[in-house]
Amino acid sequence: MKLLVIGGSQGIGRSVVLQALAAGQVVLAHGRDEAALAELATHGAHTIVGDLRESATLEALGNRADELGIDTVVASQGVAGDGALTTLTPERIRLVMEINTVSVIRLYHALRATLLERRGIFVVIASQASLRPERFDSAYCASKWAVLHWVQSMAALESPHGVSVRAICPGRTKTALFDDAMAGFAAAAEMSLEEYTEMILGLIPLRRFAPVEETAAATLFMAAHAPRPTVLAETGGEVPYSIAPFLVGGHQG
Ligand SMILES: NC(=O)c1ccc[n+]([C@@H]2O[C@H](COP(=O)([O-])OP(=O)(O)OC[C@H]3O[C@@H](n4cnc5c(N)ncnc54)[C@H](OP(=O)(O)O)[C@@H]3O)[C@@H](O)[C@H]2O)c1
Repeated sequence: MKLLVIGGSQGIGRSVVLQALAAGQVVLAHGRDEAALAELATHGAHTIVGDLRESATLEALGNRADELGIDTVVASQGVAGDGALTTLTPERIRLVMEINTVSVIRLYHALRATLLERRGIFVVIASQASLRPERFDSAYCASKWAVLHWVQSMAALESPHGVSVRAICPGRTKTALFDDAMAGFAAAAEMSLEEYTEMILGLIPLRRFAPVEETAAATLFMAAHAPRPTVLAETGGEVPYSIAPFLVGGHQG
């Protein structure tokens, strides 16, 4: 596998990079944080820097992916969209939609020729918020619902051409984005972070948040060149199966 990880500088994406390198794979890690990428280079990663809102970044990603023969992509870029209706600014709404939804679609267009040539895999890290709405998380839910429906539409369109487009919908995973979101939810709910955390843990049968390595391992399961479901709901039980059965059918080779 020759893997490109978008948003590989932090959080789930960074853990995907490290696990893939440990398994001996060629990895191209993308992000904006040059110091974080330089650290990944010491583990053997190729790196590429750029803001996904800029067309030049997408063009550079397409060129570099072609040079390296990338056949698998994990799209792990994302921003939190927490906040009550009264504190959610128009700028934040635009950023959430732009990074969580629009940048994924533009990225696929930039990489499509490379993926078609190699019968590749394109995995989007969506969210449990793609599967069910969450209070105080309206813009993020909208962005993640939209990207999941884009995945399902593209999976049907691209499968006959040999490219598998897939999504993983993780539950709450301990990262910087998670910390930002939980602080915003607690404030919007007018609760302390401790009270809010305890309330959410009560909704999760496992009664714990996922460590980043666990979500990264599930993401790499979805990135394998082997039959996989189009969508994997990996939520620790917070989203009951009854909500999502229509999303989990359909295997791709
Ligand atoms: N953590 C959770 O509980 C959870 C649950 C379900 C789904 N998810 C999803 O999983 C994915 C990864 O989230 P995470 O928790 O690992 O978040 P994270 O630690 O905050 O990492 C987000 C990544 O996105 C990159 N990014 C953000 N804005 C960008 C921009 N404008 N241009 C280029 N790159 C940009 C960041 O790059 P730099 O840092 O280099 O700027 C970073 O590498 C996201 O799609 C998120 O929505 C997370």
